[in-house]
Amino acid sequence: MNKLPMLLDCDTGVDDAVAILFTKYLNNLELIAATTVAGNVEVEHTTRNTLQVLELAGMEHVPVYMGASKPLMCEPYNAHHVHGKNGLNDIELPKPKREPEAMKAWDAIYAYAKRYKGELTIVAVGPLTNLALALTKYKELPELLKRIVIMGGAAVGGNVTPAAEFNIYADPEAADMVFTCGAPVYMCGLDVTMRAYFTAEELDEIASLGSKQAVFARDVMQGILQFYRTYKLGGVAFHDPVTVLYADDDSYFQTDHAGVRVETKGTLTRGKTVTDLYSDKQMEHNAYVVTNLDREAFKKRVFEIMAKYGE
Ligand code: RIB
Ligand code: CA
Repeated sequence: MNKLPMLLDCDTGVDDAVAILFTKYLNNLELIAATTVAGNVEVEHTTRNTLQVLELAGMEHVPVYMGASKPLMCEPYNAHHVHGKNGLNDIELPKPKREPEAMKAWDAIYAYAKRYKGELTIVAVGPLTNLALALTKYKELPELLKRIVIMGGAAVGGNVTPAAEFNIYADPEAADMVFTCGAPVYMCGLDVTMRAYFTAEELDEIASLGSKQAVFARDVMQGILQFYRTYKLGGVAFHDPVTVLYADDDSYFQTDHAGVRVETKGTLTRGKTVTDLYSDKQMEHNAYVVTNLDREAFKKRVFEIMAKYGE
């Protein structure tokens, strides 16, 4: 069966990097381009990291388009404290052989949406600035896309504030534009991604698969284990990797149609994805919220993919 095209918009930090590794061995989607945005670290680093990890994955044929260096309106907010200064927990991969393409990310998003009219899935695992810029510049973009799958938000909770998740908090205005653009939007928020965790022992099991990609995945994720211990979580959440797997095959996930809008003004709640999932006050159902997964099926899929690097 022919795979459908996927564009990955990322702010390559540690979990984006593992998500990129996963894109090589998906069942239903093929990565045809990557666009980068400032988020975890500065866009120069997220772009370099994306080029490097694509080479590590043997996917140097996938073009990379550099995008926004800052959010639409608010001050930049990064996650150096989680991902390290270079974004890969200061793991140094070989200098990339390539440069990013000349075209800007938001123009590339539109170009691929036109080329693959009605077939393109955009998986966005960083702040949504590039998508918002593309939507602003190209009014017909929503009708061209098959769907937008994001890692971001949370029906309940937050990881930057008690109300907001990082990708949304970093650019709430952009996020609300995406949720209201009219294309089918699927939100893989903390509700599901915090359930998609690996313990330290399971990370070592991945590394024991033996390939350099498997060892890198363990090394790069292990670095943030300490950070997750503050959440009293049994391991490290695979936020971006599980979002890519969801986009490829949602059969082992729970997905609910709901209303989702983003608070852009609140003092305590800025960046919150407000949803009617747990309310008797209904909103317009403009999105799909992923709320749970079969963790064993997820774990099995991760090992299937990472084992392929050793074949
Ligand atoms: O909140 C987790 C998200 O923020 C992930 O995408 C991580 O890479 C950071 O971008
Ligand atoms: Ca990310």
